[in-house]
Amino acid sequence: MKSDLGPFEADRIYQGDALELMEEIPSGSVDLIVTDPPFAIDFRAQRMNYNRTGRHVLDGYREVSPDDYADFTRTWVDEAYRVLSPSGSLYLFSGWNRLKEVLCSLDASGFVTLNHIIWKYQFGVYTRKKYVTSHYHVLYAVKNPRNYTFNKVEHYPEDVWVINREYWKGKQKTPTKLPRELVGKILRFSSNPGDLVLDPFLGSGTVAVVSRELGRHFLGFEIVPEYYEFAKQRLKETLLRE
Ligand SMILES: C[S@@+](CC[C@H](N)C(=O)[O-])C[C@H]1O[C@@H](n2cnc3c(N)ncnc32)[C@H](O)[C@@H]1O
Repeated sequence: MKSDLGPFEADRIYQGDALELMEEIPSGSVDLIVTDPPFAIDFRAQRMNYNRTGRHVLDGYREVSPDDYADFTRTWVDEAYRVLSPSGSLYLFSGWNRLKEVLCSLDASGFVTLNHIIWKYQFGVYTRKKYVTSHYHVLYAVKNPRNYTFNKVEHYPEDVWVINREYWKGKQKTPTKLPRELVGKILRFSSNPGDLVLDPFLGSGTVAVVSRELGRHFLGFEIVPEYYEFAKQRLKETLLRE
């Protein structure tokens, strides 16, 4: 990990707008970005899909309007490219509905997309007049295809990952929490202990939590105060378990 993070400290998360905060990260200081940005869809309407009553789901998730999505994505993906080290990598989660904007932004920023991973999951959504969406796209991109970290965690790893969502029965939760197994897989393949992992759109903080568990340094941002507090609490609990 490079030592200079400008106004930020490693192993901390900050509440605020990622588009502003990323500008303050020194160029080339991050080893890996793993992030699941807003998708420009209405998660309030979708909450029932994740949790039958919605009672335990934290409110206030910040979305981006569909009209602004291309500019929003282009801005933060450009910053992602700048803050990554020359051998850095990015894993970017995207629903199929906004994939076009995401792929165009990756190309425009200078990233080389190495894989288009399909994360297949199930969470009990049923549709009658079309197929049930049960996957996300995880775009794996690097700055330099001749120099990047890719550890031999498995022989010939494939690009379709079947990993179930985590159910936190009766506990407070957020609507779009990533499974820890999924984040752990990414960190093991594409980082080493001591590397710095950034998630500019933390949500419940899974990327920071798993980074801490696996001995990676982390930095993260979340705009919604309630989500930021939720992520901070999860990080504190991770420390207590160590
Ligand atoms: C899809 S969720 C991330 C979920 C996360 N991976 C997890 O495991 O919980 C995206 C998050 O980005 C946050 N967000 C939206 N716009 C933001 C911005 N401009 N800056 C920082 N966070 C933002 C949302 O409030 C939401 O919590």
